[in-house]
Amino acid sequence: MSAATLKVLVVGGGGREHALCWKIASSPLVKEVLCAPGNAGTSSVARSVDVAASDLDGLARLAKDERIDLVVIGPEEPLALGLADRLRTRGHLVFGPGQAGARLEASKVFAKEFLDRQRIPTGAWRRFERSGAAKSYLESQSGWPLVIKADGLCAGKGVFVVESAQEGCTVVDALMEEKKLGEAGSEIVIEEFLPGRELSVMALTDGATLCVLEPVMDYKQIHDGDRGPNTGGMGIVSPVSFVTQRLMRQIESRVLLPALHGLRIEGIEFRGLLYAGLMITEAGPRVLEFNCRFGDPETQAIVRRMHSDLVPYLLATAKGTLEAERPPEWDTRTCIGVVGAAQGYPASYEKGHMITGLAEAGAVPEAVVFHGGTKSDHHQVLTNGGRVLCATALGEDVNVARELAYAAFDHIQWSGKYARRDIGLPRVLRAGPNTELDEPAGAFGGGRVRGEHDS
Ligand SMILES: Nc1ncnc2c1ncn2[C@@H]1O[C@H](COP(=O)(O)OP(=O)(O)O)[C@@H](O)[C@H]1O
Ligand SMILES: [Mg+2]
Repeated sequence: MSAATLKVLVVGGGGREHALCWKIASSPLVKEVLCAPGNAGTSSVARSVDVAASDLDGLARLAKDERIDLVVIGPEEPLALGLADRLRTRGHLVFGPGQAGARLEASKVFAKEFLDRQRIPTGAWRRFERSGAAKSYLESQSGWPLVIKADGLCAGKGVFVVESAQEGCTVVDALMEEKKLGEAGSEIVIEEFLPGRELSVMALTDGATLCVLEPVMDYKQIHDGDRGPNTGGMGIVSPVSFVTQRLMRQIESRVLLPALHGLRIEGIEFRGLLYAGLMITEAGPRVLEFNCRFGDPETQAIVRRMHSDLVPYLLATAKGTLEAERPPEWDTRTCIGVVGAAQGYPASYEKGHMITGLAEAGAVPEAVVFHGGTKSDHHQVLTNGGRVLCATALGEDVNVARELAYAAFDHIQWSGKYARRDIGLPRVLRAGPNTELDEPAGAFGGGRVRGEHDS
């Protein structure tokens, strides 16, 4: 293709957006990357523009004034607000679905109904609009744990695995009576707990063609050993050793293609990223949720491993010409990412602590640090969010990648820095109703139930 001519606007200011800006800026097709609002990390590869990701008017104006060729929308919130529709109406090329497609992520009830309509495998579930009915239901149950989900967007904080009716009722009250998560919790889903191994599979789609990206394993819970509350994601590994080609084909044929088909027949145009959050159970893949945008931190692993230029894929997705693209090429090495969080996250936490050691971390071989909640202040970098950054590294195997990622991560300091220390180590499966904890029998054919790296 031709010389660098494109101006790309990335909307958002977290780790995913730093990763996207970093990859997009490396494209020979790109003249300039803008990031709105960006963070202290994006500003090293893109021009930060002080417009919030939820400021639809401001972003539309920015795209017009700067004559942007392609807008890549990072976070779910502007997608759910209809930013993509607004920009497309004004003639811009946009990577990201419209408001209708974003409902797949923005409403758990809508997503579960869609899954059932399209006969895509997912856990059994019930919807509740009243706390009384939800609590009676919980009290009638005997198989624990169960999963309670707020219907609306909660930034990874709206899902609760509960072990008893009592615990469940406390969650129901917090969501539906005390409105701890606002309107997002005014409706809830109570869902079967699915034991298995969790996997994120993302695919670019223009509504007609899928381009499936490499699978990534995310670590959702705050503490080592998958304990404590859910977060937006505390670490990543890719590739994922338990994922076979056969499993990827199953995910494609049972989940991604039916979803694409469902979107089409339901009249929803979807040009962007379809993210399937999956539980790989003994009975095969089950969908936990869909997201309508690149995962964070999964994207950090994708951009590290993707050899191909990402920009032609983003453009083809936005234009509806994905069919003409070849499958991307990937680094076969392992990428590990360690997320550093602010003390207290995912509950309340402080901001504004000075971060040191970033240059030393960046000098570790094969390491790249992506900023999440950071901001520049004079010549300093300060914490500015719950998930502050993600130190990634590539290695010949998971052990090498792990050593390098933690070596980079350990150079970085701020007051209250918190991270899991078990990213990339074998994981123990969590038991579901009627299953035994740590059962090592050959549930996954190869007998590798315990963890993905213990072969
Ligand atoms: N049915 C389920 N069985 C077991 N674990 C689940 C189930 N649903 C969700 N989870 C766990 O909770 C996490 C968050 O749930 P998810 O539906 O992805 O919501 P969100 O990402 O919006 O918080 C998942 O990543 C998974 O670890
Ligand atoms: Mg999720």
